[in-house]
Amino acid sequence: MHIDVEEIRSHFPIFERFSRDNIIYLDNAATTQKPREVVEAITSFYYNSNSNVHRGVYRTGEEASELYNHSRENIAGFIGASPDELVFVRNATEALNIAATCLPELAGKDSEVLISRMEHHSNIVPWQIASKRVGITTKMMENMPERQITWEDVEKNLTEKTRIVSLSQCSNILGTINDLSEIGRKLHERGIFFVVDAAQSVPHMKVDVRSLNCDLLAFSGHKMMGPSGIGCLYGRKEILEKMPPYMGGGEMIKEVFEDRFTMADVPLKYEAGTPNIEGAIGLSAAVDFLKKIGMENVREHERELIKYTLDLESERKIQSLHSYGPRNPLIRAGIYTFQLKKGDSEKSYGNYVHPHDISHLADRIKGVEIRSGHHCAMPQTLALGTYATARASFYIYNDHKDVEALFDALQSIDRKMIA
Ligand SMILES: Cc1ncc(COP(=O)(O)O)c(C=O)c1O
Repeated sequence: MHIDVEEIRSHFPIFERFSRDNIIYLDNAATTQKPREVVEAITSFYYNSNSNVHRGVYRTGEEASELYNHSRENIAGFIGASPDELVFVRNATEALNIAATCLPELAGKDSEVLISRMEHHSNIVPWQIASKRVGITTKMMENMPERQITWEDVEKNLTEKTRIVSLSQCSNILGTINDLSEIGRKLHERGIFFVVDAAQSVPHMKVDVRSLNCDLLAFSGHKMMGPSGIGCLYGRKEILEKMPPYMGGGEMIKEVFEDRFTMADVPLKYEAGTPNIEGAIGLSAAVDFLKKIGMENVREHERELIKYTLDLESERKIQSLHSYGPRNPLIRAGIYTFQLKKGDSEKSYGNYVHPHDISHLADRIKGVEIRSGHHCAMPQTLALGTYATARASFYIYNDHKDVEALFDALQSIDRKMIA
């Protein structure tokens, strides 16, 4: 199926404002727009069935529980998991914090965790905090800054103490898509736990937790057209059952006595307190929206857009444009990170435009909204030999015209700002 961008846009009320005010939104790796279907699912819950879940035995209480449980089933199925393996959390960051807090208890306190230089801060800092708290060692591997992580990269960095490897499936700066299935399989053969940061993959391609051979996997709802404040931690059932709980309170218990408690079954063991019910319902509606389009079509659309971007880059020959990431669209997500600089200089005026200025000017000149800075991945940014980059990132509602507008803006900035 070819994606009909105009038809897709008609589901998003914000595009009325975008066309009125000439806004071209290209910051989808940060967060995505929401279709009417998602907003209406949330509104309908509030208007018709609002109640707490897993408590009241009255009608709206039962309806709320049903909607919440159905959302879990739907989202779990979307990534090839069973419902008792899907924990609702706030976002990918919270899911990775649970991993870094609870998994070291199974791995052993003097074990090593291996991460890559490609990681978002959410897959670095929680492990560094865990290192301080429980004495595990966090090691960042020497992977090449711009290409896929291979099994050889991982293997070279394993020691007899490595018990956890945590990697992103897709880099939020380079757009590199890592082929993790083989890595997962080999790690399991060695009895090493495998955690996957899927924040930039689940929204954009078919992800199947079984074929990834992972133990834990994290993603966020807001990056896949769902609401903010809802995300998921997938965990292999055996792992979720063995890990200690993350937070205590209501919902995560079976019984509480004066001096002890017994735990609820998974996944509720990890869902202390009243959950984000409307968030789960909204995310489930986003999953329905994606399922209707088909994840193969989503990926194909973005693969084609990044190919068009790279082709346009060659065609336009903007003298100061320098971009990062793999050139092969087959292993590249719809993420385009770049700088405007002549030679290597980021210091002299007239040779370099700071990414914040690029972002500001791209909006002023063409209404193109792109991100600038270190993109919450400072080790990756530094590995590219810089402190900041500009980034355009695409989703199903973007098209060739959006990419052309970006290049028009860059051409104009280059002419104005580079000597
Ligand atoms: C690769 C990656 N991991 C994790 C995150 C964290 O996501 P969130 O802020 O929704 O928790 C992001 C967000 O940009 C990301 O790109």
